[in-house]
Amino acid sequence: MYSSKIIGLGKYVPENVVTNNDLSKIMDTSDEWIQERTGIKERRHIEKSDDSTAKMGVKAAKIAIERAKIDKDDIDLIVFATLSPDYYFPGSGVIVHDMLGIKTCPALDVRNQCSGFIYAISVADQFIKTGMYKNVLVIGSENHSGGLDMTTRGRGVSVIFGDGAGAAVLSRSEDDSQILSTHLHSQGQFAKELSLIGPSTEHWVPEIIAENPQEDIPYFPYMNGQLVFKHAVVRFSEVINEGLEKNGLKKDDINMLIPHQANLRISQFVQKKFQLSDDQVYNNIQRYGNTTAASIPIALTEAWEEKKIMKGDIVVLAAFGSGFTWGSCIIKW
Ligand code: ACO
Repeated sequence: MYSSKIIGLGKYVPENVVTNNDLSKIMDTSDEWIQERTGIKERRHIEKSDDSTAKMGVKAAKIAIERAKIDKDDIDLIVFATLSPDYYFPGSGVIVHDMLGIKTCPALDVRNQCSGFIYAISVADQFIKTGMYKNVLVIGSENHSGGLDMTTRGRGVSVIFGDGAGAAVLSRSEDDSQILSTHLHSQGQFAKELSLIGPSTEHWVPEIIAENPQEDIPYFPYMNGQLVFKHAVVRFSEVINEGLEKNGLKKDDINMLIPHQANLRISQFVQKKFQLSDDQVYNNIQRYGNTTAASIPIALTEAWEEKKIMKGDIVVLAAFGSGFTWGSCIIKW
């Protein structure tokens, strides 16, 4: 049995900064309301002529591949996590494959929303552990701004989300730096509590238009915010503990926790629960909002670039989101 480690990280966020005050000009909201409840000050929205979910993924991936010091043709598998793929089908992994111009290799999409990057890392880790593949490119990328209701009607959801991408190259480890374990969960009874119902095969466009008054068409995400919050704080803690216990670690052993950037209040709750200092938890939701599958790889890349993660550190990644799904990944850096 082999083990895997992260050998390259990259991120890309669009240049277009949208502040809370910018949003307050197009919907009934305020900087105070958004900051108090979520910690978010600004987020990035793509310019459609320049970017898409796949294009942002490629930009982050190119940086990760360069830092990994591998040839792009050495990539054996692409795992692409998103809830906002460029097309209904095919997935964005194959679009990235084409844009990177690499030799034929498998590419698959993971559809696990905020937990998508953890699921994707876990898939990559399993393929490397069995020896089937040596180098796996994992990407989390989201274009939320293209699909949000940017009117007062959608303000409970649209102020939270931002666009961006992060990428990691995982490779077979030859030393004790490795992904120690990953832990995945789902509870589908809550599927609709944070969802985008249509258009889909169950709710196709003509059917939706026929059945709903124009103002009620469910083309925009729905979120039961308070229910999500309640479950998130419990599941984050559980799944981090599960990872620590599996590896015989204690909370004091955590050098860096990178929580999915759902909401600063959720991160702060988890930080308090594990008695971690500000230096031991990386948050950037203030600058980017919630970028779902992209949030952990963007934060991980920034923490690494800022030298907040050192060789030998215990790094914990954890996420909770739509599905509900949740997961953690324990890494010895
Ligand atoms: N600006 C101003 N007012 C708003 C806005 C807004 N953007 N959005 C909602 N409101 C209003 C509502 O209309 C409501 O008004 P009313 O009392 O007159 O009816 C009032 O504010 C309170 O609305 P709630 O939805 O009850 O607000 P709440 O305090 O629950 O905060 C929030 C909403 C921030 C979404 C909160 O529930 C939360 O943090 N939930 C966790 C969900 C989360 O983090 N999701 C992230 C994505 S999912 C994930 O990644 C896990």
